[in-house]
Amino acid sequence: MRPSDNSAGSFYITTPIYYVNDLPHVGHSYTTIAADVHARYHRLLGEPVLFSTGTDEHGQKVARSAEARGMKPQEFVDEVVAGWQRMWERLHIDYDRFIRTTDPHHVLAVQHVFRRLRESGDIYLGEYQGWYCIPCETHLLESELVDGCCPQCQRAVEQVTEPAYFFRTSAYADRLREHIERNPEFILPESRRNEVLSFIKEGLRDVCVSRSRTEWDIPVPDDETQSIYVWFDALANYLSQVGYPDNQDELAKWWPPTLQLVGKDILTRFHATLWPAMLMALDLPLPDAIFAHGWWISAEGDKISKSRGNVLDPYEVAQELAEISGATTSVAVDSLRYFLLREVTFGLDGSFSWRGLLTRFNADLANDLGNLLNRTLPLVERYLDKKIPHPGPGAGELGPEIDRVRNLVEEEMAESDFSAALAAIWQLIASANKFLDSREPWTLHKESKQVELEAVLYDVVDCVRVLGIMVSPFMPESADEIWRQLGLEATQIEKSWRDCHAMEMPSDIAIAPGRPIFPRVDIERATDRLQARREHDKKSQQDQVPATGASAISIEQFAQLELRVGTVLEAHRIPGADKLLRLIIDLGEDQPRQVVAGIAEQFNPRELLNVNVVVVANLAPTTIRGVESQGMILAAGGEKPEAMIVTDRVCPPGTIVR
Ligand code: ME8
Ligand code: MG
Repeated sequence: MRPSDNSAGSFYITTPIYYVNDLPHVGHSYTTIAADVHARYHRLLGEPVLFSTGTDEHGQKVARSAEARGMKPQEFVDEVVAGWQRMWERLHIDYDRFIRTTDPHHVLAVQHVFRRLRESGDIYLGEYQGWYCIPCETHLLESELVDGCCPQCQRAVEQVTEPAYFFRTSAYADRLREHIERNPEFILPESRRNEVLSFIKEGLRDVCVSRSRTEWDIPVPDDETQSIYVWFDALANYLSQVGYPDNQDELAKWWPPTLQLVGKDILTRFHATLWPAMLMALDLPLPDAIFAHGWWISAEGDKISKSRGNVLDPYEVAQELAEISGATTSVAVDSLRYFLLREVTFGLDGSFSWRGLLTRFNADLANDLGNLLNRTLPLVERYLDKKIPHPGPGAGELGPEIDRVRNLVEEEMAESDFSAALAAIWQLIASANKFLDSREPWTLHKESKQVELEAVLYDVVDCVRVLGIMVSPFMPESADEIWRQLGLEATQIEKSWRDCHAMEMPSDIAIAPGRPIFPRVDIERATDRLQARREHDKKSQQDQVPATGASAISIEQFAQLELRVGTVLEAHRIPGADKLLRLIIDLGEDQPRQVVAGIAEQFNPRELLNVNVVVVANLAPTTIRGVESQGMILAAGGEKPEAMIVTDRVCPPGTIVR
């Protein structure tokens, strides 16, 4: 994107702030790497750049994960966030700001926004409406009702209304639609823009922006009964990053964002509607552009995500690539960055495979770029005694090609088409390789055509210098190594986009050839090896199977199980199901849970009342004989339950069991 007019030529780029109940995987690193490439590119252009990322730390899910690990929420998030920051450092992410939604200044900013919008009438106290089954004490959604009745007891339900704050999104629908229509660059890519427009045309409903007060959320100012909705909290990070509301200088320097990168999962409902409506209500300019990229999916074809259990740790991938290839880990990280941005057009989905990664590594990095460097430097070493010659007569031949490619890269980067920008850079690599082939410096040397020889080698080295600059946003450490081998490190010349022209290579400096940066991989052997390693890992897991025959689990796997004390409030037989009881259990939550248990033949409903049982609280809900079960209770016994697991002292419902 071009620097925004409103923000005095500055480039403010953002990533989503990631949930801390997840570990960083290839999907998250994709957005963050893309933002880093943009930030580095715009720094090369000499623009003031602010690149912000961070973590989304509030919400009940986080509080529960913390409790399940026996930690305070703050302790838990501190630990997890350190892991995210370590990952970004390892992936060469050079962000300027890292916001945590638990930062005090962010909390104040969110409350400020809330207060302001409440004062202007954009946030109003309304009523959350839903359905309630009084006998079952269950909140129900319209969609859960069966013939308008409770799906559990088939009795009539009551409509309930609870106070909650709403944000008047509806009031901004027309303005927003107009803005999107008039600014084709606002929502990118085009296909997403059309999706957003049809979503708005269906009508925007006011968004409920508060919940009944919870511990691990930002309180609504001046109303202790309510907490601020996590998305309202999270979106405001883009403002608090740049000093909102107090630091007017910061705000004037950076606002509005030039480019906001998000995945397509969080565009329509959040970044393309709620977020700009919030800004309109605050009388703040909208971001110049919001770009929603596609998903990385696994080789099996599903989205890479924690819930699907197919996450790839990007640093582990890089370490494995380093081992396979003999490249440094740092170069392997760069190679992964290159692969992610080259393989798929930004905006489309991509599927991750080792074969794809290794194929690109060999073809583009080892062969094209690596080879250019590996054949050029020895020629300078052998024929010119390692010294960069002066650009005598005839030098500068690659100049027009450098200019052509530079312009192309600029155009593609302005569109966030990283893949096309890289393809353009690789055209220059191909041209330089071809130039060497056709000018045959080895023949020039043999024929003692020294002037021509120097001109040709100067041009190629000069072109490698330009390439070092051009690839540096994508592969920063590898570019530094190219720079070092060219002998440029000692000159203290910094990489700058302005120097992407021919004839800027300083003469008389000594090159410092090193080992090949991108050593070639034998793909067949490497994939065999990867395969063997997977099998070995699997086998060593099996070898740990203890004598009981059950497979061993790690402490982390055990920690995934959420066991809690629950008090049985009601126990009912289920008509037509002789073995089942329907229990209503208090787990210390807003509403009791319904659990179906196969214990009716052994236990009388009445003997279970007020008993403190142990419940598997994070079991996915399921429907048994048409009755929803939201957990499982523990009992001793095999096929048939023999005894209930109960606590031997009184402890409050919801107490964690470990
Ligand atoms: O949604 N492919 O956080 P989150 C590509 N906290 N990108 C992926 C991906 C995949 N398989 N998986 C994740 C949240 N991403 C909120 C955001 S912002 C105010 C609040 C990336 O941790 C992609 O950018 O679920 C996606 O939008 C983001 O991670 C979601 O991260
Ligand atoms: Mg998500």
